[in-house]
Amino acid sequence: MPLELIFLAVTLSIVTSQPPISSSYLFDTKGSPWAFQSGSKLGNQPSHLQARASDVDSTPGSREGSAGWSNSAGHFYLFGGKGYDAESTETPRYLNDLWVHNATTQKWVMLKENGVSQDKNSSVKRMQPKPRKGAMICGIEGVLLLLFGGQSADGYLLSDTWIYTIPTDSWLPLYIHHKISKDQAIHPSARTAAFSWCLRDRMVIHGGVVSPSGLGNDVWEFSFQNLAWKELVASSPPLSHCCGSSWSDYHENLFIFGGSRDAATAVKEYGDYSPSHLHHETWMLSLSNSSWSQLKTDFSPPARQFCSHWRDTKGNLWLTHGLSSGKNKILNDTWKFVPATHTWFEMSINSSNAPSARFHSVAWFAKDTAHIFGGFGYNGRGQMSLLNDLWSYRLPSLLAFSKGESFIEHFTPGLVFLITMASTASVVCVFGLVFCMKKTFEYPFRASSTAYNVRYTPLKEETSFEFS
Ligand SMILES: *[C@@H]1O[C@H](CO)[C@@H](O)[C@H](O)[C@H]1NC(C)=O
Ligand SMILES: *[C@@H]1O[C@H](CO)[C@@H](O)[C@H](O)[C@H]1NC(C)=O
Ligand SMILES: *[C@@H]1O[C@H](CO)[C@@H](O)[C@H](O)[C@H]1NC(C)=O
Ligand SMILES: *[C@@H]1O[C@H](CO)[C@@H](O)[C@H](O)[C@H]1NC(C)=O
Ligand SMILES: *[C@@H]1O[C@H](CO)[C@@H](O)[C@H](O)[C@H]1NC(C)=O
Repeated sequence: MPLELIFLAVTLSIVTSQPPISSSYLFDTKGSPWAFQSGSKLGNQPSHLQARASDVDSTPGSREGSAGWSNSAGHFYLFGGKGYDAESTETPRYLNDLWVHNATTQKWVMLKENGVSQDKNSSVKRMQPKPRKGAMICGIEGVLLLLFGGQSADGYLLSDTWIYTIPTDSWLPLYIHHKISKDQAIHPSARTAAFSWCLRDRMVIHGGVVSPSGLGNDVWEFSFQNLAWKELVASSPPLSHCCGSSWSDYHENLFIFGGSRDAATAVKEYGDYSPSHLHHETWMLSLSNSSWSQLKTDFSPPARQFCSHWRDTKGNLWLTHGLSSGKNKILNDTWKFVPATHTWFEMSINSSNAPSARFHSVAWFAKDTAHIFGGFGYNGRGQMSLLNDLWSYRLPSLLAFSKGESFIEHFTPGLVFLITMASTASVVCVFGLVFCMKKTFEYPFRASSTAYNVRYTPLKEETSFEFS
């Protein structure tokens, strides 16, 4: 008998003979998908600093409201926030240190110390963005980071744009890069806690707190092609808001969830964290036609602000934690949004081993695993503290539960077998195709590594500036 027929016969017999697999077989609810990685469960911890080559782990101090950006290489860059640096202080302060977490080694490395300069010997003070929280950050792997806005220690909202060049390990304000004066630079108005998206060739921001009592709903984009800001006029925008979550899909659709419509309570210092006018709307901005639309969903996560979010490799959008109003306002739940069907699912989590309720953390997805770091919430003893614990989240296999129902029943062993065979076959096909194309065209994909056309001149090592 030909091989294909044998395969078909085996497949059919499996598909038709087996009863459906029980849900516990496919979705293991016994263990927690969360795993503690590093940091302290005590809260209010200073940074631990070690020399770059040292074996001993460095850890950023406890903090909230940091800016974070991750890339496909598994590097997560963490900037500032409000919390603790290496010097132990009674009260937390605003920070401007820069860290990178490596998903391969699961270790933190400090790139820029909090304060003025990494180079303590130097008599010249190097430029570094003011300490801040609630800033927006984005980057290009191996080339640069872009930092915009935030709120500084004196309560001012910031509108400065900074470029950190990764190869030279140095910060430079954008207007100096363009050799123009501060006043000539075009940029979004000062703001903090805006929605932001980091796309392949640009960063897009939306709304945020733009004055002590004002919020925005404008959209701006920063192009990495020419390193410049441009306002983007989009039709039917949501009401002005801040402090929610944002994701992009692979098709230039930008999604947002939740946030606050009250600037005054949104940026109150913690200790008085009672937000109001929270919402639980899900919106999409299509860059292809520059128009907003509110997505109708059957149910959605409770209204909240300062939640954490990431996108997985399947394009699902994840939401965890955050700050709501009322009793038990600091949240610990985990949700998943499927953009294709506009459906929210609440994930069932075993609470015996999961990050405590918290908000203003940073989360990212790298090397098939999600991570969440820090924020303000409950420490191991149940006291409110700033945190510096790092957790990873293992994605559940196949489908997960929505509230009160399960799709798992639809998966019979035969179907799973078929899916496995189909994926194996496609992998074989792709490999074959790549192999043939390589033979024929001499690495036709090589050109894709120069997709970025960034007009950026590396700074000279000795370049230095006086603080103004
Ligand atoms: C939660 O996890 C713990 C240990 O990881 C386990 O002992 C317990 O049975 C789990 N609970 C449920 C409801 O699965
Ligand atoms: C992350 O770790 C890998 C493996 O040790 C290393 O090759 C890579 O350079 C590291 N990245 C950074 C940014 O240090
Ligand atoms: C800083 O100064 C000390 C003592 O003068 C010297 O040993 C060290 O190499 C200097 N470090 C740098 C980075 O210049
Ligand atoms: C814009 O495009 C999106 C999908 O890309 C679509 O859902 C939406 O209806 C479009 N809006 C308008 C006003 O054409
Ligand atoms: C979240 O907190 C509630 C109590 O507020 C608790 O009952 C629940 O088990 C927690 N869930 C997780 C995943 O930690």
